[in-house]
Amino acid sequence: MPISTRAFTVSGCLAVLMVLGLQTSSAAPKPAAVFSGKDVLMRPDGYRQWVFVGSSLGISYARDPEAGSTRPMLFHNVYIDPQAYGEFLKTKRFPEGTAMAMELTTSETKKEPGLQGTQQNEFAGLEVSVKDRTRFDGGWGYFLFTGPAGTLRDRAKAQAPETCWACHHEHAVTDHVFTQFYPVLRAVATSAPSTRDRQAERP
Ligand code: HEC
Repeated sequence: MPISTRAFTVSGCLAVLMVLGLQTSSAAPKPAAVFSGKDVLMRPDGYRQWVFVGSSLGISYARDPEAGSTRPMLFHNVYIDPQAYGEFLKTKRFPEGTAMAMELTTSETKKEPGLQGTQQNEFAGLEVSVKDRTRFDGGWGYFLFTGPAGTLRDRAKAQAPETCWACHHEHAVTDHVFTQFYPVLRAVATSAPSTRDRQAERP
């Protein structure tokens, strides 16, 4: 075989290998929400690397504003999985499979000479929501991973609709998500359909 042909064959093989390699690396990314059976969610890995959409302190829809006011307020830090964020940027809708994580931390307020303000302190819990119409009648499932004494559970079963979904259905502005409190999403969502415009009814 003349050298030039051999060189061609070798480079041809390399090209095929590179294409195969590209195909492998462009295979569908792992979904953010991994279920065991129909409605048990595994605690998502690496949610602190998701897109951080906002943080709030003491937001509540409790009818009695004094309820729970003796306890220190918790920070709520909210993240969305990066694939869903990318879709939301393009379509202004949360795609099927969207996962959102809300990590809770305790707060501590300093009023000392030379140091004032409120900071986040210890991790105190984790709540997750997942959009999946094939699993949840109202479109979204809600999961509580907070365990006893600051621990987190490895898996969580979907909560009953009246425990979580109902409040999100009533008060959240964009498809059961509280975009009104997340400037990062609100900036995208201003023209997205609101929860009330949607067909989803109480299951
Ligand atoms: C009485 C109203 C209410 C109930 C009940 C409720 N939530 Fe929420 N949830 C909120 C509000 C308000 C926010 C906005 C963020 C915040 O709290 O700072 C929120 C935000 C979230 C988020 C962040 C994504 C989003 O949808 O905005 C998750 C995840 C979440 N809640 C999970 C749960 C889970 C799990 C339960 C049930 C165990 C639950 N929620 C019950 C009011 C509620």
